[in-house]
Amino acid sequence: MSEQTPPPERAAESPAPQPETQAPPQQQRANGGRDGVILEVTDIHTYYGSIHALKGISLQVREGEIVTLIGANGAGKSTTLRSINGLNNPRKGRIVFQGKDITNDPAHSIVKMGISQSPEGRRLFPHMSVLENLEMGAFQRTDRQNFKEDLDRVYALFPRLAERKTQRAGTLSGGEQQMVAMGRALMARPKLVMLDEPSMGLAPIFVERIFEIVKEINQQGTPILLVEQNAMMALDVAHRGYVMETGHIALTDDAKALAKNEQVQKAYLGMD
Ligand SMILES: Nc1ncnc2c1ncn2[C@@H]1O[C@H](COP(=O)(O)OP(=O)(O)OP(=O)(O)O)[C@@H](O)[C@H]1O
Ligand SMILES: [Mg+2]
Repeated sequence: MSEQTPPPERAAESPAPQPETQAPPQQQRANGGRDGVILEVTDIHTYYGSIHALKGISLQVREGEIVTLIGANGAGKSTTLRSINGLNNPRKGRIVFQGKDITNDPAHSIVKMGISQSPEGRRLFPHMSVLENLEMGAFQRTDRQNFKEDLDRVYALFPRLAERKTQRAGTLSGGEQQMVAMGRALMARPKLVMLDEPSMGLAPIFVERIFEIVKEINQQGTPILLVEQNAMMALDVAHRGYVMETGHIALTDDAKALAKNEQVQKAYLGMD
């Protein structure tokens, strides 16, 4: 307050500070940018050879949010994540993360910047132990001194992984493997986590637990971009959602509004 209203005797000699100079650049970066937007995807077009998979996708993730991307098989949800994480760079459009253009960056530098993903199908190293798989998530990091702290955080979120840290990942149940994939993503101490179908193929009890953990990770301060087939559960935990249809965003709204939307209910929530 005092910065904006200098005492009258000083007002004449010192001009009012410009709004841009009030917050140090570092603080602006920490906030992610305009309106707390940490990830901004603008009109991206992504291809597999000549297949035009994404036909102009735009979406945003803000600090503190869980944003979900729902839609039918083949709509382009995984391709959207692959465009963001650098595995399939878009041919057109722009992706900005924390104010930096990452549109054409390779996957390894995007992980280094703080985006980590639990991929569709989990992609664990089946012959390696739970602990070794978790270690793989931290290998890009330079601040190794925090390794123990992050491992403890993962074990606190997933106590079952602590019990099974020496077990080979390939012998875990599907739900436990999903926990390893999510834990591995967290070991990179990410600024944004992307989850591709974390509930796929899991028994209902594990599905519930996984969504609870998604919420918990978010409440600990990490924004999440969540791709899900289980639209009902995803909209239940998310703040906002995007509905994809064959390479386009068909709808976007607050998660609660989407869950009430008739079109969404018919197509994705199994209601008539
Ligand atoms: N490696 C690939 N080569 C060629 N086409 C691909 C490849 N991967 C995906 N596609 C195509 O791109 C489109 C989008 O696929 P994508 O995997 O992104 O969909 P999705 O929404 O994740 O679907 P699902 O819910 O089944 O995982 C589909 O038409 C798909 O056939
Ligand atoms: Mg997919």
